[in-house]
Amino acid sequence: MPKKQDFLSDIKTLRKRARSHIERGAVTEGYRADRETVLRLLNEALATELICVLRYKRHYFMASGINAQSVAQEFLQHANEEQAHADEIAARIVQLGGEPNFSPEGLATRSHAEYVEGDDLISMIKEDLIAERIAIDSYREMITYLGNDDSTTRRMLEGILAMEEEHADDLASLLEELAA
Ligand SMILES: [Fe+2]
Ligand SMILES: [Fe+2]
Repeated sequence: MPKKQDFLSDIKTLRKRARSHIERGAVTEGYRADRETVLRLLNEALATELICVLRYKRHYFMASGINAQSVAQEFLQHANEEQAHADEIAARIVQLGGEPNFSPEGLATRSHAEYVEGDDLISMIKEDLIAERIAIDSYREMITYLGNDDSTTRRMLEGILAMEEEHADDLASLLEELAA
């Protein structure tokens, strides 16, 4: 059975590797994930978050009716949290030596979730819930794909996933309250 030590590089090798390609910054020779694929996935996630910001903002400003105030506040809070996710993802893309794609051209196509306006409070909440469920599944797949190959990106995505699950839960509760 191989000893644990066999998996570790000796100090000399570590130091030598760190010196080559210093222009790559945080991306070292030991980076095990396929960087191009990770960058593509992160840009799709960025597009998804940006579409979610836009959809929640639209819903926030259009929410009206007896129950609208508290629901609108929920939409606004979600919009701000999706914006924070977008910022985190963009920063990680740069750290990995890529470029975050903020182009409005093709944004809706790059996004996993859809931009649906909805025409009343209930349909808005339903569309938001569907978008969250799409985000939950796509983040879960990305996390599985990364495995142990890029633990920093994986941890970031796990944090985002946990919040998307909270969002979905909030929306499901709102739907229940409104239906009662
Ligand atoms: Fe998000
Ligand atoms: Fe969300």
